[in-house]
Amino acid sequence: MASRVIPVEPFDLIVVGATGDLGRRKILPALFRRFCAGQMPPQARVIGAARSKMSRDEFRDVVAGALREFSPAQASEAGALAGFLDCVDYQAIDARGSSGWPELGEKLSPGRVRAFYFSVGPDLFGDLARRIREFGLVSDDTRIVVEKPFGHDLASARALNVALAEQFEEREIYRIDHYLGKETVQNLMAVRFGNMLFEPLWNSQYVDHIQITVAETVGVGGRGEYYDGAGAMRDMIQNHLMQLLCLIAMEPPAKFEPDSVRDEKLKVIRALDAVPPHHIVRGQYTADPAHPEAAAGYRDEVGHPRSTTESYVALKAHISNWRWAGTPFYLRTGKRLVARSSVINVMFKDAPHSIFDADAGRHANILTIRLQPNEGITLHVTIKEPGPGGMRLVDVPLDMSFAEALGPDGRDPADAYERLIMDVIRGNQTLFMRGDEVEEAWAWTDPVIAGWQSRGDVPKPYVIGSTGPTDADLLMKRDERRWRGINP
Ligand code: BG6
Repeated sequence: MASRVIPVEPFDLIVVGATGDLGRRKILPALFRRFCAGQMPPQARVIGAARSKMSRDEFRDVVAGALREFSPAQASEAGALAGFLDCVDYQAIDARGSSGWPELGEKLSPGRVRAFYFSVGPDLFGDLARRIREFGLVSDDTRIVVEKPFGHDLASARALNVALAEQFEEREIYRIDHYLGKETVQNLMAVRFGNMLFEPLWNSQYVDHIQITVAETVGVGGRGEYYDGAGAMRDMIQNHLMQLLCLIAMEPPAKFEPDSVRDEKLKVIRALDAVPPHHIVRGQYTADPAHPEAAAGYRDEVGHPRSTTESYVALKAHISNWRWAGTPFYLRTGKRLVARSSVINVMFKDAPHSIFDADAGRHANILTIRLQPNEGITLHVTIKEPGPGGMRLVDVPLDMSFAEALGPDGRDPADAYERLIMDVIRGNQTLFMRGDEVEEAWAWTDPVIAGWQSRGDVPKPYVIGSTGPTDADLLMKRDERRWRGINP
């Protein structure tokens, strides 16, 4: 099943901070792949903008290097790289001064979508927005794309929203949470709202609890300074896991339209209860004593021997509304865990009464939504064990692995950034966070962090390559539940 590619109109995309890590790893390769797929037309312009003085050819070399490294298959296709590089230009700008802005303006074409992608730290968002307005670079079709972290807490997120709102309207602002661009995350909405099967059961009467796991094998790498000031709660829970929780828990929007969807997500965040301290476990990875040479523990990696920043969080959240009262949502995320695995498990209740003998066995249904790797959805159902040996029940997975079901497109789904950047160009804000949503998410997160800070809590150690601190298992055990395994 090949996906249809509908080319977008020629656009100008100005990537501020294009030579940074995100630009090289994600934004430029995503554009390149859309170019190779025929979606980005050759008349489109991708203009890198950063502080460093560089000629267009020097920038093209940087871009070519990034594409060879991060999109090697496409970069080896005859003519593809050269064709894309023809679309690429560069302009040095001073975000806090005036140099470079008039020249940037001269490179922009009238009558096109003009998207400014701020792939820089949030401290520059306000300055950049002002310069764009001040130097007359705003057209009727201007879009501003901003990356996370969108703030460090509620106050800083509000300040960013105010700074952007002084220059642009909300309909022009695209706040990226790249989890919303993942194939299976969108499929979650298709499965929930495109089928009759699940929605009647999608509530506390039938769902025992929900587990959302985002496990990573990577450590903090070169981002130690940022990460040590943030931690897993700010880096992952406040945004990515929160968005997953919203999509699972929200009411059906009246339409698949930006504000209908975002209104429903906002209601979920507002209905979240405060999280008491005994419903949270924080962890920090330590070197494996059996292989201390394999990877450094968190404190060594960030170079902060007394850091109390968490690289792992598990928590139990409650949503106080009619649909979910009494059904807990267990969230966990961590770095340097046993496997890379992002999975949502919707754990249904047991059937109210079993007509079979106790020794036939009993299995509750589980709907497993795998975000990565091996994107797919599995419904665990109970059937009779085949054969003449009497009535014994077994749990079998009805597996819809996208790799098998969708052929090449399922095996190699578009990266989240490909989809999100094309949505910016098309002007579709459904998969972007609205300002009020981000603020509500911080309003829920801030007291949790303030709580452990005031208590002086220290994260529990967990060994690199494990499933996280044992206290996270106890969090479940107290409720007579268990985490599903973290499997690649
Ligand atoms: C980013 C976080 O937003 O998401 C990183 O800042 C994290 O710390 C990353 O590693 C995970 O993204 P993905 O797409 O690899 O699951």
